Amino acid sequence: MVPERAPFPATRLRRLRQHAWLRDLVQEHRLHPSELIWPVFLCEGQKQRIDIPSMPGVQRYSVDVAVVEIARAHQLGIQAIALFPQVPDNLKTPDGAEAFRKDNLVCTATRAIKQNVPGVGIICDVALDPYTDHGQDGLVVDGEVHNDRSVEALQRQSLNQARAGADILAPSDMMDGRIAAIRDALDTESFEKVVLLSYAAKYASSFYGPFRDAIGSTSNLKGDKRSYQMNPGNSNVALHEVALDLQEGADMVMVKPAMPYMDIIGDIKRTFKVPTLAYQVSGEYAMLKFAAIAGALTWDEVMLESLLGLKRAGSDAIFTYAARDIASLLSKA
Ligand code: PBG
Repeated sequence: MVPERAPFPATRLRRLRQHAWLRDLVQEHRLHPSELIWPVFLCEGQKQRIDIPSMPGVQRYSVDVAVVEIARAHQLGIQAIALFPQVPDNLKTPDGAEAFRKDNLVCTATRAIKQNVPGVGIICDVALDPYTDHGQDGLVVDGEVHNDRSVEALQRQSLNQARAGADILAPSDMMDGRIAAIRDALDTESFEKVVLLSYAAKYASSFYGPFRDAIGSTSNLKGDKRSYQMNPGNSNVALHEVALDLQEGADMVMVKPAMPYMDIIGDIKRTFKVPTLAYQVSGEYAMLKFAAIAGALTWDEVMLESLLGLKRAGSDAIFTYAARDIASLLSKA
């Protein structure tokens, strides 16, 4: 309990707000570039920088360009990146087989980044949606995303990415039992040091729209993902998801999207006291970016405020497409 405080006028809360230095002195939460994770979209080819119309300021890079941009981001203080491939349509199949190929885009990029920017942590997404022609995160059997068949596929995808040198695997698929299964698969090949970051509380959100454009799965996706991603009307099951993932061996957990789910971030952090991450998703980025372009909001200010809010809610680290902008702002501050 908070002890009782002296009433006004002995207490004047404005006393600590009167100077910048004093406000800084008593500030409880701060942002630092080392806790920002930059999601990077990849495409085939060379020297490619392709705009993504629904995410102004974000581009897809071919591997050669990605390496240069990631090195730059690292100099700004960003310590970890997350890779998302745009797989050409002719490589998308019902079983997502491209996800298991040793030299696919993500694995090629992982090796190139490890070689050229060795200090940066590499996070690879585990889910089949970039690779399936139906755009679902798992395998479809008899018209439904089949849990256990999908988990087997995710094990194969995980091993493929671990062999390429991924430091962290981040299952974003929301199949039941996948954390334990992936941990088992990794351990059979002595990848016991590979970290598992579980998208534990991932909601069936309409804020993912621009991301699906970015990886080119929008037109493929038939139906929705509500049979595996969480119902936005629920909070208790987020704690249940996290409890299971921790029992299964997750090292860190994530909430996604971030801003509409700040209560969930706080609940998880207070309940489990484990590294809790937030993903400020594509739709959140687009919302702020388009408002800034329209002149309704000031980009730097609203980005900083939105990320600081996520820290205050309990996030230890944050995925954000604005990671580089914010890192350079923080380095100037
Ligand atoms: C898919 C995946 C999605 C995102 C990250 N991994 C989209 C989805 O579930 O459809 C969304 C990220 C974003 O919107 O920024 N496994």
